[in-house]
Amino acid sequence: MACTKFLTLNNGEKMPVIGIGTWQASDEEIETAVDLALEAGYRHIDTAPVYGNEKAIGRVLKRWLDEGKVKREDLYIVTKLPPIANRPHEVEPTIRASLSDLQLDYVDMYLIHTPFTVFINEDGSFQFDAEGRVKVDKSTNHIATWAEMEKLVESGLAKSIGVSNFSKEQVARLLNNCKIRPANNQIEHHVYLQQRDLVDYCKAENVAITAYSPLGSKGIAKFNEAAGLVRELPDLMDIEEVKEIATAHGKTPAQVLLRWIIDNDLVAIPKSTNAVRLKQNLDVFDFELSAEEVEKLSAMDKNIRICDFSFFRGVEQHPEFTFKNQFTD
Ligand SMILES: NC(=O)c1ccc[n+]([C@@H]2O[C@H](COP(=O)([O-])OP(=O)(O)OC[C@H]3O[C@@H](n4cnc5c(N)ncnc54)[C@H](OP(=O)(O)O)[C@@H]3O)[C@@H](O)[C@H]2O)c1
Repeated sequence: MACTKFLTLNNGEKMPVIGIGTWQASDEEIETAVDLALEAGYRHIDTAPVYGNEKAIGRVLKRWLDEGKVKREDLYIVTKLPPIANRPHEVEPTIRASLSDLQLDYVDMYLIHTPFTVFINEDGSFQFDAEGRVKVDKSTNHIATWAEMEKLVESGLAKSIGVSNFSKEQVARLLNNCKIRPANNQIEHHVYLQQRDLVDYCKAENVAITAYSPLGSKGIAKFNEAAGLVRELPDLMDIEEVKEIATAHGKTPAQVLLRWIIDNDLVAIPKSTNAVRLKQNLDVFDFELSAEEVEKLSAMDKNIRICDFSFFRGVEQHPEFTFKNQFTD
């Protein structure tokens, strides 16, 4: 099995439409999972320093590359400039730290992880105000940071550059002030949060969309609990119509949700550290959804944002934070 479909980006680079997500997985879990994923045929890996497991991923990549089991040019590695380093002077040192952890000379895609920036202490811990909210750095300047991102392409540290969690207005501002157009916007996207306006805009501007939390991010419950949040989140894989479509094709609900995303010419990065499920998530190329099924799935939008960063209390005070969450609503 392999990912047989690629999206051609605005710079001609080709991105496999299914990648493996790596958020919320321990070093041990991710080391096993990435190994299994590469065996299963995944070549696209989505990571970030924020996930705390780049070193573990780097160990697997090094083994595969050293043993000649995969060629570097066949891998598609995405990582991100974290919110603690979303400042022009931090771009190059931060990608270099990721490259060192991943044991790579370049990444295929480097994304600004969030439109907002937060402060940390010297020991790397977050700075909090008296109410326990993370302190935000309101001096964020996307255009100045983007100019440093562009230098990464020029110096060969990143093949492509993009953004994540950016709104239409934030993407438009960059498009109007760049030498190198963002190639990608990684956003939450699934049947219950389709963000059509943003997706259509990005597509029209040739900015590829990667759908994160494409299966509804079940694991986020752990994060919410740790932040003391009680939230009832929908289970996308338990939606009756999704289950019916899956049964009709002899596939699973997860496979239907993923196929719907890639049929819409988007990229999906489901996370799984389970051997059966991660294989299942790549096995989506042998069936087709009918026009009627696509219509049913597209009609499910409920504007439910699952990853609204409410577990990161305080970020809603940042002027570039555009999500609605329970602290702002
Ligand atoms: N840019 C950003 O700000 C941002 C934000 C969120 C996520 N992301 C990226 O997107 C990736 C995916 O998003 P996500 O991790 O939030 O959620 P997701 O991929 O929608 O869902 C992952 C959850 O679904 C389970 N799962 C996976 N495949 C399954 C299947 N076939 N059947 C049943 N359950 C299945 C996983 O458990 P098991 O592991 O036990 O299978 C895990 O609990 C992340 O890992 C990360 O790389 C980026």
